Amino acid sequence: MELGGRTALIVGGTSGIGLGLARRFAAAGSTVVVGGRDPDRVGDLETLRIDVTNTQSIADARDEVLAKHPDLDVVVTMSGVMLMEDLRDPAHAEQAELSIEVNLLGTIRVIDAFTPHLIGRGGADLITVTSGIAFMPFPMMPTYGASKAGVHAYTESLRAQLAGTGVQVTELIPPAVATAGQEKVNSNALPLDAFLDEVVELLTRTPTPQEIVVERARPLRWAERDGTYAELLERRSQALGALPGR
Ligand SMILES: NC(=O)c1ccc[n+]([C@@H]2O[C@H](COP(=O)([O-])OP(=O)(O)OC[C@H]3O[C@@H](n4cnc5c(N)ncnc54)[C@H](OP(=O)(O)O)[C@@H]3O)[C@@H](O)[C@H]2O)c1
Repeated sequence: MELGGRTALIVGGTSGIGLGLARRFAAAGSTVVVGGRDPDRVGDLETLRIDVTNTQSIADARDEVLAKHPDLDVVVTMSGVMLMEDLRDPAHAEQAELSIEVNLLGTIRVIDAFTPHLIGRGGADLITVTSGIAFMPFPMMPTYGASKAGVHAYTESLRAQLAGTGVQVTELIPPAVATAGQEKVNSNALPLDAFLDEVVELLTRTPTPQEIVVERARPLRWAERDGTYAELLERRSQALGALPGR
């Protein structure tokens, strides 16, 4: 995939990985718009207000960006919330619903809003964002994992359904990256720039890999194939000891 000379929208690009990726596209010479509920915190890129839990907000944002950038040819669905849940407390339902609402339904809604335009372009890229946790659960974030496993499955079907339209579908599968507070709770989180260096190297390969899996994400992505799944899951379950009352 070319990173330069593109017109890209990164929904969920107002902070963290999305903002970092947006700056990489911009540095490569692309026109970039970043979207989120709180766009005012970004000063160096064009921004757009969008809430992926609200279909009208998505439609308005789509109309606004396409009116200004009819040549839009990259859409990244980066919006996500990473929430911990205690499944012994039914009050976790609130976090569960928000995780599905933003991560899974939000992704589906944004894709729906832009698919007709991208097909009309004849050559375009759609990048979805899952997580190593989609493939190797982190039991502290149960619905997060379910939502990302859902986005993975959806992405596979989307790629099959868009085959032949000129829209390439790529899934970004980050490991723990030092954004969104991860750096405070996980000393192993990959620094953002190191992560993005690897992402850019993989994204710009020809042909573009269907999945962008940096080295740190590979043990998670391939645990089942590699026979390390049970051992890794047990290790990752130890974090549950930090929940109150455990
Ligand atoms: N960091 C990691 O360790 C890690 C690992 C694997 C996967 N990921 C995934 O990578 C993506 C980016 O995460 P990050 O670490 O960069 O976190 P982040 O800094 O919190 O970024 C999350 C982005 O999602 C947007 N967002 C949240 N709710 C939204 C809503 N209702 N409507 C529109 N946008 C919304 C936020 O923008 P506003 O607040 O402006 O709305 C922000 O731009 C997420 O999908 C996450 O699940 C992260």
